[in-house]
Amino acid sequence: MKNRQVRLAARPVGLPKPGDWQITDEAVAEPGEGEILVEVSHLSLDPAMRGWMNEGKSYIRPVAIGEVMRAGGAGKVVKSSHPKFAVGDVVTGGFGVQQYALSDGKGVVKVDTRLVPLPVYLGTLGMPGMTAYFGLLEIGKPKEGETVVVSGAAGAVGTVVGQIAKIMGCRVVGIAGGAEKCKYLTSELGFDAAIDYKHQDVKTMLKEHCPKGIDVYFDNVGGDILDACLARLAMHARIVICGAISQYNSTEGMKGPANYMSLLVNRASMTGMVVFDYADRYGEAAREMAGWIKAGRLKTKEDVVEGGIDAFPETLLKLFRGENFGKLVLKVGA
Ligand SMILES: NC(=O)c1ccc[n+]([C@@H]2O[C@H](COP(=O)([O-])OP(=O)(O)OC[C@H]3O[C@@H](n4cnc5c(N)ncnc54)[C@H](OP(=O)(O)O)[C@@H]3O)[C@@H](O)[C@H]2O)c1
Repeated sequence: MKNRQVRLAARPVGLPKPGDWQITDEAVAEPGEGEILVEVSHLSLDPAMRGWMNEGKSYIRPVAIGEVMRAGGAGKVVKSSHPKFAVGDVVTGGFGVQQYALSDGKGVVKVDTRLVPLPVYLGTLGMPGMTAYFGLLEIGKPKEGETVVVSGAAGAVGTVVGQIAKIMGCRVVGIAGGAEKCKYLTSELGFDAAIDYKHQDVKTMLKEHCPKGIDVYFDNVGGDILDACLARLAMHARIVICGAISQYNSTEGMKGPANYMSLLVNRASMTGMVVFDYADRYGEAAREMAGWIKAGRLKTKEDVVEGGIDAFPETLLKLFRGENFGKLVLKVGA
């Protein structure tokens, strides 16, 4: 049995190119005492992967040149020398971009596919859903009647942020690229309004849809959209800095917010969040969100690409071209 893997070959400049990756085959390893072997079926493709490919200090160490690319994934335990896992268990964990992963069980979670399909455990009930839940509720602290704006609104994190904000009784405005995504937000997910940043002027539309200003801005994109939201803050607004995908492939350095003095004028705050800080509370969030899914209050959307391991480099680029609609997942096995 061979284990096909995608390794980082070079640190990209701008968008990752085919030459930044190396596809390798090696023999499938045998689990030692306290280890499991997982046959990976689905990979989570995340914008953060672009940051992990860079050198330099961050919230997590960079992927080393020659190392199997870091990735969350889901699959089945096929061999176990671990007391907590049995052959046949369906699990999620940080398995990397490869067909078979050895694990000591740390961060590996057993999931029940009778409740929701497996890809949902990489999206709404996985890392992106946790990001939305804790970022919005712990940092955004939305109150009933407030106006919440979220960018990257039709994506894995954004769809969940907007729907939780609706559950909290807020007015919700999503910002996304294209009419189809915007229509989905208002007609399927119950957002009050959506702004198509590719075809509409965001500043003008924010004025129209947020007449009393923005109380919570959940920022997934950074750049010009962050600046437009800063210009429209309500008093005591909270900005959640979750990501800045518009800047991840920039070759000219990050574009910082010009309108930051709006924080002073409005006694507002802007706070960064990293989902891993809430790892010991994932269970609590997953239970509450599973309840909302069951009750029909929280809809999930996954964009599953049937490509196999070799399709990883090209599929990752969908995130930066806005070609994914919902949580981007790559199917790599049965
Ligand atoms: N802080 C944390 O712990 C944490 C954890 C998870 C994710 N994140 C961050 O959350 C954000 C969303 O992640 P996700 O997994 O939910 O991805 P996603 O939204 O499912 O996919 C990325 C989306 O970003 C949008 N996008 C791409 N380039 C853009 C640009 N130049 N300007 C504006 N939008 C652009 C595209 O949507 P459109 O078609 O609408 O342009 C694309 O579909 C990312 O910034 C990610 O890094 C942070």
